[in-house]
Amino acid sequence: MYTKEDLKNTIVSELGEYNLIVVSNREPYIHIMKEDKIVVWRPTGGAVTALDPIMKACGGTWIAHGSGNGDKKVVDRDGKIKVPVENPRYTLKRVWLDKEEEKGYYYGFANETLWPLCHISYTRPVFRESDWQQYKKVNKKFADAVLSEINHSDKKKTIVWLQDFHMALVAKYIKEKNPHVICAYFWHIPWPNPEVFRICPFRKEIIDGILANDMVGFHIRYHADNFIDTVEREVEAKTDRERNSIIKEGHETLVRSFPISVDAQDIENQVTSKETEERANELKKELSLENKIIFLGCDRIDYTKGIPERLIAFDKFLDKYPQYKEKVVFVQIGAVSRILLKSYANINSEINRLVGEINWKHSTSEWAPIVFSKEFIPYKDILAFYRISDVIVISSLHDGMNLVAKEYIASKFDNKGTVILSQFTGSARELQEAIFINPYNINEFVEALKCSIDMSAKEKEKRMKVLRDIVSENNIYKWAATVILELSKFYLY
Ligand code: F6P
Repeated sequence: MYTKEDLKNTIVSELGEYNLIVVSNREPYIHIMKEDKIVVWRPTGGAVTALDPIMKACGGTWIAHGSGNGDKKVVDRDGKIKVPVENPRYTLKRVWLDKEEEKGYYYGFANETLWPLCHISYTRPVFRESDWQQYKKVNKKFADAVLSEINHSDKKKTIVWLQDFHMALVAKYIKEKNPHVICAYFWHIPWPNPEVFRICPFRKEIIDGILANDMVGFHIRYHADNFIDTVEREVEAKTDRERNSIIKEGHETLVRSFPISVDAQDIENQVTSKETEERANELKKELSLENKIIFLGCDRIDYTKGIPERLIAFDKFLDKYPQYKEKVVFVQIGAVSRILLKSYANINSEINRLVGEINWKHSTSEWAPIVFSKEFIPYKDILAFYRISDVIVISSLHDGMNLVAKEYIASKFDNKGTVILSQFTGSARELQEAIFINPYNINEFVEALKCSIDMSAKEKEKRMKVLRDIVSENNIYKWAATVILELSKFYLY
């Protein structure tokens, strides 16, 4: 198994002394004021979950938006703090945004334009010129924050690693001021086909911005190919399908696929700890889950995750197979997200309504079929839920990767547990031993729920073993090392 030490050694042998700068919108640690005290929250999103272990292993600086109401109180004059606070391993540098910037860049352009445009889950993207202007302004701010971290007099090689759909123009602004900085970009969400992307009024500038990077990564080859197809359709550039690269105005961008993963060993260590075992037992008692077959859904509340489809399938499952009433419980956990947006407020109300209706329809004096928690849940509780659940249900309508599937698999130390997985997730390419569903096909979904119960224990164990081998072999350290090895070619000259 590839370890964090292997990653560190790979970087040092390839690059010697280095200065790693990661840039994302979401910060890995958020300081929140709670009753006059500052507490630290760990956001649940895929990008931060994946990158935090890499930064802990390699050190460096992570630049991100300081979004917590306690964030300013704990940083130094440069907006920096060493994290994790209890055992500092790297520097978090916070970038401050005012309300107008956050509204236009994050809520508007990132989440009402790019997110629905790239996910194609039938929520119409919104194109506002004012959001686009704020997106550009904020991308410049991030670029300046990166440039201020590059010390030209030291001999270290700088790796600038931009993350996600919030940062499409950052490399362009960096290179305008310093063309020698090597920039890599990882796009964590799907890239749609050119037919879909062509409706975006700002598409050419977005593509130009991305092509300022020296390398662009996607989770799967399909999204990388979609990107190349889009470039061919939209801008004057030479594409090389052999090298998977694009040359525009003399600058080459490599286009690669790197399926992201998790720190499988760390998850297993945490899940098998005494603390998690105790918490798991407490949760079983508190939520009346003892002796029940537990289905688990764990997502940010988002319209791309297929949560209503999942609840409707569970409702139909109880209609069709009433013998399972009082024997099964569906636990749906996940934090409310981006709630200021109408599309998110709508999905939230729809889920509340469905949970209410289904519980009302099927519950008895002793039992309610769905337990729904939309509170922020600490990571150790998520691990406890992984530990006690029999089946994880992932029904995304479209998902770049979906790391919940991989986290769940990593947590199943005893090879017990089953994965129901949407065929429209990036992880479906690797996790072939899951039970696949098309979340739009409710009948098929119902049968998948049934199958996850009926499958023999031997078959379940066999499948989980294979899945665990895949996740532990292709873990997050190997992912980062593959990216860095590819990137190291740029530092030879
Ligand atoms: O999937 C890409 C991603 O960046 C995830 O890391 C995360 O779940 C989400 O998008 C961003 O969520 P948020 O808007 O809450 O940062």
